[in-house]
Amino acid sequence: MADVVELIEQDHRAVEQLFGQFAASKDATIAAQICDELTKHTRAEESAVYPVFRDRLSNGKDLIGEAETEHEQARQLIGRVRNTTDPNHLASLMVELQDAIQHHVREEETEILPQARTEMSGSELGELGEQFEAAKQEEARSR
Ligand SMILES: [Fe+2]
Ligand SMILES: [Fe+2]
Repeated sequence: MADVVELIEQDHRAVEQLFGQFAASKDATIAAQICDELTKHTRAEESAVYPVFRDRLSNGKDLIGEAETEHEQARQLIGRVRNTTDPNHLASLMVELQDAIQHHVREEETEILPQARTEMSGSELGELGEQFEAAKQEEARSR
């Protein structure tokens, strides 16, 4: 089974692909799917992964504090995406959301996840991967 770093990166690639599909189609169904996937992913990170990283990584408090602020900004954008019925407004909000997510993903993948790889053991990262998956399934059920 993939560890938590691989699972998080897989989700990032999947959502990037969906953003590409939205950019090509401007399909509101894809936009809604992106919002659902991002909500599930960010909530599972917050409940299962971030608390552990905050404690275990040497720079955890700062890195995770910043990441949580970015999640909050994404959540607000997702709320606006879900509330709009105007296709042009939807398209511009989706560009804004994609930029915000791209920035956040870059920080996770260049700062947080490499630090987790260096400072945590393979078995810890494996176990955290299982907890991340379980939290995502929990989120999917509660929708
Ligand atoms: Fe992430
Ligand atoms: Fe995140």
